[in-house]
Amino acid sequence: MEKKTILTGIRPTGNLHFGHLFGAGKTWLELQDKYDFYLEIADVQALTDNFHNPSKVHLNVFELTSDLLSIGIDPKKVHIFIQSQIPEIAELTVFYSNLVTMARLYRNPTVKTEIAQKKALFGNDGESVTYGFVGYPVSQAADITAFKGELVPVGEDQLPLIEQCREIVRKFNSIYGDILKEPEPYLSKTPRIKGLDGNEKMGKSLGNAIFLVDDDETISKKVMSAVTDPQKIKKDDPANPEICMVYYYHKLVNQENVETVCEECKKGARGCVQCKKELIGKMNEFLKEIREKKHYYREHPEEVLAILKKGTEDARKVAVSTMRDVKEAMQIDYFEKENNHDE
Ligand code: TRP
Repeated sequence: MEKKTILTGIRPTGNLHFGHLFGAGKTWLELQDKYDFYLEIADVQALTDNFHNPSKVHLNVFELTSDLLSIGIDPKKVHIFIQSQIPEIAELTVFYSNLVTMARLYRNPTVKTEIAQKKALFGNDGESVTYGFVGYPVSQAADITAFKGELVPVGEDQLPLIEQCREIVRKFNSIYGDILKEPEPYLSKTPRIKGLDGNEKMGKSLGNAIFLVDDDETISKKVMSAVTDPQKIKKDDPANPEICMVYYYHKLVNQENVETVCEECKKGARGCVQCKKELIGKMNEFLKEIREKKHYYREHPEEVLAILKKGTEDARKVAVSTMRDVKEAMQIDYFEKENNHDE
């Protein structure tokens, strides 16, 4: 049986952190063995927010790709490609933009939340909201459909974008014929990873993330400042591990000892400092192999570039074939027809 096609994307705006790894990353590692997997480095989408800072996006294409390779994304199984290098995505975006109303875009819950955040940051005048930004769900629909993506692994916050893509596909197919595939979201089994400060979400902009590229010293500092049970004052006070971020992270990287950690914490048989030090050790152990690989790729940027080039070439072939079908259906395949006459 043919493998189903998976398409997902990630914005190159920073390095991967624990939230990415234990959320999306783990799911991707499982999926890469089972599906035909297209992984888009969404630099065009990153530019919607960072158009004034191209060097940040450029640098992070390499950083992010080498992070992905370091956690075990295998370029033999996954086509890792750069969005901006597939012009068919931009073309499709233009065609799809006729199939979406402005009102519908403004109603998209993901767009709505992000606009509210922008207004909070830059004032309420709407000046900061660009055409490209409001339209990014259209461009994301092009990302997915260019590769005939059937399953799209995403977090819950992205569900409205998948829904919008499905609407575009249905509209397109109803007007031009049955050309595009309607994708399904694939929700990760891992819930969102909490930040060191106890926030429900770990995020770069929230300042509570542990990055895979953090060195020993940075990890120590961050873990030492993690939120613990505020009721625990003295080292032998009993405490509640369920509200402690240090325990939360023991569960991720120290599974073999997690019951002991829990019991001792409840009984007051372990101080927070000792507990944090143990966690730091475990995190460093956990990161050892990832760091070695990361070091290797930083030393060999030409390999990262070659992987991206090959992935992009493979992905482009699919996008070109989709584009041919789309143009034929939309009756804008003028010169294709001319070629046919010559045959
Ligand atoms: N919007 C996604 C995010 O911010 C990234 C993304 C870009 C994406 N293109 C995609 C996700 C296509 C799924 C499918 O996380």
